[in-house]
Amino acid sequence: MSQRDTYIQRIRRLPITHMDQGEVRWQSPSNIALVKYWGKLGDQIPMNPSLSFTLQQCHTDTIIRFTHRAGVYTSPEISFRFEGSLRPSFEKRMTTYLQSIQDLCPFLTHYKLEIESVNSFPFGAGIASSASAYSALALCLTSIEDLLYQDLEDDDLYRSKTSFLARLGSGSACRSIYAEAAWWGSSEDLAGSSDDYAIGLSDVLHDAYLDMHDAIVIVSSDEKSVSSSRGHELMSAHPYRENRVRQATTHARHMLSALQTGDLDAFGSILEREALAIHGLMISSYPGYFLLNGQTITLIDSLRAFREDTKVPVYFTLDAGPNLHILYPSSVASEVSEWLENLDPQMVDEIIYDRVGPGPIQLI
Ligand code: DP6
Repeated sequence: MSQRDTYIQRIRRLPITHMDQGEVRWQSPSNIALVKYWGKLGDQIPMNPSLSFTLQQCHTDTIIRFTHRAGVYTSPEISFRFEGSLRPSFEKRMTTYLQSIQDLCPFLTHYKLEIESVNSFPFGAGIASSASAYSALALCLTSIEDLLYQDLEDDDLYRSKTSFLARLGSGSACRSIYAEAAWWGSSEDLAGSSDDYAIGLSDVLHDAYLDMHDAIVIVSSDEKSVSSSRGHELMSAHPYRENRVRQATTHARHMLSALQTGDLDAFGSILEREALAIHGLMISSYPGYFLLNGQTITLIDSLRAFREDTKVPVYFTLDAGPNLHILYPSSVASEVSEWLENLDPQMVDEIIYDRVGPGPIQLI
């Protein structure tokens, strides 16, 4: 039986407790992929395993107030405000998402949901917001489930079901549910790994990464010319598809080992190869496209020269966009901050200082 059917059968058998109304609230962070999810099969199933650090400063705070609806309904009723304003396009995507998970969350048709979200980072700054948004939403949904069915007291079950729901909203969101680091994608290299949900890596993570910083250098906040969804789609017929899956699988295995042993050189080397690999895939898609720009390349050259000169362990990665994530341990934070502050201000819009964090926080 599929994981989805298992969850559906389980919730159908449970008695629901009536509540007239209630509210739940979660703050959930964004994450930065070390090995990237790029390409999917069917219903948000990744073509390859990915792993990420969970961030701390960049997060979404979501509150859901739910009120019982008298009568029988076949679809959810929601209202959605983002940073205090109605956003019809977000509300539409959210409604489609909630309709797609009605069988997993049958309470969605019994309650009207008033959803409000706020991001800690500027919207459109080029930071992946779907990871924090959908993880915060999924955490709220599992909290409502737990209030109504009292069925998720087991933390592993709570996390995996939440990660499963978050994945259906946005793939990378499934990794934000866990403290410090997470792995998503079925692999023989990691027991318990699954395509259906992410699992946490805190238990195996070497201390060297607990204080890892991520300075996000925003070189452009312009809307992406090609969305991540389109980028994933273009992987389906990509001429390098099979090699990419092999490469990512190997990178994930080696990255896991670097995370376990604390080998920062290996960590940095795989990190940078991965970042360039996914941008190489974008360039060699049909049609090909660039999401990085000249500033990105100048900054990468400058970072590599700084590392070469100083031997400071500092490395970059890229998301699906031109902005650099600069990763380094606390021990070299002052050297790296000085280098960052001396970058040509013409090339940098903003720097957001983030770091590996403890994962989502329940606020109500
Ligand atoms: C480059 O998770 O945004 O950030 O599942 O279509 O919502 P959807 O895609 P999304 O893709 C993220 C791609 C990436 C790599 C990563 O985070 O692993």
